[in-house]
Amino acid sequence: MKPINVGLLGIGTVGGGTWTVLTRNQEEITRRAGRPIHIVKVADRDLELAKKLTAGQVAVTDDAFSVVSDPDIDIVVELIGGTTIAKDLVLLAISHGKHVVTANKALLAVHGNEIFAAAQKQGVMVAFEAAVAGGIPIIKAVREGLAANRIEWIAGIINGTTNFILTEMREKGLDFDVALKDAQRLGYAESDPTFDVEGIDAAHKLMILAAIGFGIPMQFDKAYTEGITQLTGDDIRYAEQLGYRVKLLGITKRTDAGIELRVHPTLIPEKRLIANVNGAMNAVLVKGDAVGPTLYYGKGAGAEPTASSVVADLVDVTRMCTADPHQRVPHLAFQPDKLSDLPISPMDEVRTAYYLRLRAKDQPGVLADITRILGDLNISIDAFLQKEPAEGEQEVDIIMLTHITVEKYINQAIIEIELLPTISGKVTRIRLEELNS
Ligand code: NDP
Ligand code: HSE
Repeated sequence: MKPINVGLLGIGTVGGGTWTVLTRNQEEITRRAGRPIHIVKVADRDLELAKKLTAGQVAVTDDAFSVVSDPDIDIVVELIGGTTIAKDLVLLAISHGKHVVTANKALLAVHGNEIFAAAQKQGVMVAFEAAVAGGIPIIKAVREGLAANRIEWIAGIINGTTNFILTEMREKGLDFDVALKDAQRLGYAESDPTFDVEGIDAAHKLMILAAIGFGIPMQFDKAYTEGITQLTGDDIRYAEQLGYRVKLLGITKRTDAGIELRVHPTLIPEKRLIANVNGAMNAVLVKGDAVGPTLYYGKGAGAEPTASSVVADLVDVTRMCTADPHQRVPHLAFQPDKLSDLPISPMDEVRTAYYLRLRAKDQPGVLADITRILGDLNISIDAFLQKEPAEGEQEVDIIMLTHITVEKYINQAIIEIELLPTISGKVTRIRLEELNS
């Protein structure tokens, strides 16, 4: 059968991995796809790098637009990243009738509605397994494997960089900056690492998971995003003393009021499997009404793990490209005219438990004031830890875990606690999820 011709845009970390995996496993891949899949053209701004990696085996160019309009190309693999040139390239490729494979979660979370509509109109596929959780086939699992279920919630460690940083801080006592540099050196971080450490990358991925889990359109601007830059070693240690690990979690949940869509540092009981996912590994818990909780684990970033998903998409698209477009799996799992208009819940209405750390004068009556404020707002305390004051100090750290309450009530409590004359500085608040079924 005629080979499938691929144009590769970007031969950096993931593009380089894709070249390597496709070349190394060519024979197995052909046996799976039913026909050879050949990269025939590579575009990269860094021509020297592209020439070196491809060793003269294919045409290289620094003009990515020439690849997407090349009539000999069947599938365009976009691995440049970002939401500007990548968007133009993807839309142009679609308009030329080419299928697209991309690992670009930012592009899909922000411009996915437009891109999928264009692809639908042209009858082409846009495949994006690598966009969420690197090498874990989570898109296929949720979109196809769990198609019988009403998805109730999804919670995941879906950013390798931050999980790597948190692990290095906890296990080796490394500083945040040192751990981040290591993550960048290992090829885990985004070109702008703010996307990783501020939770934006995880929110992009969570938006995609929510879309395929609940059949809602992309609405990234409504996601709540909080990163790990404010986390201290003290909080990580105190959480551990209370039997919890701190992870940057993406959580999306169906509630009576709508869909929760939030990324933030979260305490998780250390006995949960997901609490023990370390380094750049990712894990996603998906709760379906029929199957119950399911857990998917694997490498969430890096050249070959991500290439594993890119190449799997190439095989999928190759198998399906001659099929009637109406017989293909819908891009976002649900038929495009059957998407739901469930609202995204405002963060103030989210219900969860909390870890609070405050610095208080070591004197009588302090705790009574705090518990009165919490009690008035119907917030009940689940656990409590008071540290001994350090030598010569008059203030102590007080740590509390609350039972589930509503975010707006905890915010009000924090305002009132910070006004107490016996409290100094800000109250630290970290959300807590039991993640039981
Ligand atoms: P890299 O920066 O390593 O690679 C991107 C490559 O594209 C670079 O060689 C870059 O050149 C080149 N490039 C940039 N602009 C252009 C352009 N206009 N025309 C041609 N080439 C261009 O990024 P990654 O491989 O890490 O990421 C690629 C995509 O994969 C992103 O969307 C990312 O979010 C996603 N992803 C990354 C993962 C990872 O582990 N790294 C995992 C999952 C997804 P130059 O270096 O000169 O800018
Ligand atoms: N920067 C991302 C991460 C790459 O660290 O998870 C994988 O999407």
